[in-house]
Parts: sequence; C-alpha cells; structure tokens
Amino acid sequence: MGEVRMVDVGEKAETRREAEAEAILRGDPLVLRALWEGKLPKGQAIPAAQVAGTFAAKRTPELLPMCHPIRLDSVELSMSLEEGQIIIRARARTHDRTGVEMEALTAASVAALCLYDWAKSQDPGMEFSVRLIRKSGGKSGVWERETAPQPSESRLLEGVRAAVLTISDRASSGVYTDESGALVQRWLEEQGAEVVSYTLVPDDRDAIRNELIRLSDSLQPELILTTGGTGPSPRDVTPEATRSAIDRELSSITDWLRLQTAIHTPFAYLSRATAGVRGRTLIVNLPGSPRAVQEHLDALRPLLRHAIQMVQGGDHTPKGCGDA
Ligand code: MTE
Repeated sequence: MGEVRMVDVGEKAETRREAEAEAILRGDPLVLRALWEGKLPKGQAIPAAQVAGTFAAKRTPELLPMCHPIRLDSVELSMSLEEGQIIIRARARTHDRTGVEMEALTAASVAALCLYDWAKSQDPGMEFSVRLIRKSGGKSGVWERETAPQPSESRLLEGVRAAVLTISDRASSGVYTDESGALVQRWLEEQGAEVVSYTLVPDDRDAIRNELIRLSDSLQPELILTTGGTGPSPRDVTPEATRSAIDRELSSITDWLRLQTAIHTPFAYLSRATAGVRGRTLIVNLPGSPRAVQEHLDALRPLLRHAIQMVQGGDHTPKGCGDA
C-alpha cells in the first residue's frame, strides 16, 4: 500500500478563510414537504439538521485523516425548499493556515444525512448531492462555482397573475380537503405569482367550462392551472371542458408533461390532460393527485415563463427559445 501523508502547513500564513458548500436533497416531493414542515414522526427536522451540520463541521479532522485541526470561527447552515428539493447551504469561517472547504462540505453532507434519517421510513429512495460553491482566503484567493444558482432565478413567475381551479366532485362538496389545489397555489406563490383566484367545481363539463370562461374573461390572469378530472374514468371531463373553452389548443405542453413525469410512473399516460389559450390566458390541466401535481409542476417549470410571454404576444427573446 502506498504512503499517505498530511501536508505540512506550518510555514503558511494565517489568513481569514471562508467556504460555502451546498447539498441538494431529492426525493418524494410530498415527503420532503412534510419533512420541511416538521410533520414527520421525529418532529422538527430543520433545526436538528442545522445542529447536526454544526457538530459535524467541528469534527471534520477526526473523520478525514489528512485534514488539519483548525480553529473554526463560525459555522452557519441555512435551508430552503425549492421545486420539491431541500437545498442546504453551509458556510464555515476561520483564521488559520489552511482552508475550511472540508468543514463546509462535511456540515452540508451531515445535515443532508440528518434529513435523510428523519424521512427514511417514508422514502428510502431519497438521494443527495454535495458540492462546493465558493471559497476564499489563502494564496489562491477566491474560487467561485459559475453555475451556482442565484436565488432570484427561482422566482420565475414574478409579476404573473394566476388562477387555480380544482375539479373534483368530492373536494368541491367538502367531502375531503383539497390538498392538490392548495399545493398548486403554494407553488405559484413560491414562484412569485399573484394568485388572484382559487375555486373548486365538480366534475361537470358545463361547470368547468363556465368557470374557465369566467376566470379568463373577467379576471384575465396570464395563467390558469387546473387540477383533477383528467383521467379515463366516466366522470373525468376536464380535457373536453377545457377544449370547449379555449381558442387554440397547446397540447404539446401536456405531451411534454406526460413524457417528463413518466420517469416516476407509467400511469402518467393515464392522464388525458390538455393545455390551450383563451384570449391572453394560458390554461394547463394537471392531474388530481398531490404527488402527480408536484411532479407536473417540476416538469412545467422550465418552459412556463416563456410560454406565458409568448401567449402575451412576446418575442422569442435570447433568454427564451434561443438558448433554452
Ligand atoms: N402523473 C404523475 N406524474 N404521477 C402520478 O401519480 N397519476 C396518474 C396520472 N398522471 C399520476 C400521473 C393517474 S393514476 C391518473 S388516473 C391520471 O393522472 C388522471 O388523474 P386525474 O383524473 O386525477 O386527473
């Protein structure tokens, strides 16, 4: 076996050094939301993961054989729920002879492991990736990952007015709570949209058609997302009602959603959902189950803003079709 050795840093200057790492936890979006909201049996996961990450950063040299024990000035962890993923950011600082990137990476990794531990009974298939975002200090100066996402990029529907329409006999009669409509509303708001209406109608062709016409003509939102009634059962009439309310069909959007979400389940192709335009309003059908809704919203994200701009009469801007 070859030799291993610890690099001698005794002659290096003590400078202020900082590093930031990111871990992204992916899994069942509904489980991740419950985890985020502290609704799983172990309780509040986010503060626990912050503590776990901080402890881990302090133990980095005990875990990694060639890491030097350094005096940490601070460790900070912040987390956010974005597009059905939990993003963990860990920042470590020191005044020492060597960098703190391993401390930041260890903090982010162990915080992700802590979240995994919290939710593993609900979704053992969760996975996470970890990467360095930025480091500074020492001879090499500042290194920054070019592709690090900017927080503003996640608010893709800033300035958009949107409406949510839940189509379900049972939810509209109050037999059960409308989780899917609430999920769509929350997602739209997280993306920066203003939700101007949230209504429920039964699986009735005229009721759906009339509500779509009322919403588009009187409130004139740029976007209406419907949920439910897209399947093959006899009461499912959302696609027919939508077709009767729109001027032009844009079913290529829902073709894309079926294709993308079929990676989760072949049942994606049991949805007959469609999309189209009435006036200047883009209408997109989503299936009814919360899981399907979350998967569809994730798949819709990359093309939604540009589709809305085009329906409004916008151009193929360089940031749109040209370089998607
Ligand atoms: N798409 C995804 N991504 N995930 C799902 O779980 N469920 C399917 C399908 N699309 C599903 C999905 C099922 S089982 C049905 S019946 C249809 O959506 C239609 O659902 P709806 O009638 O509630 O709209």
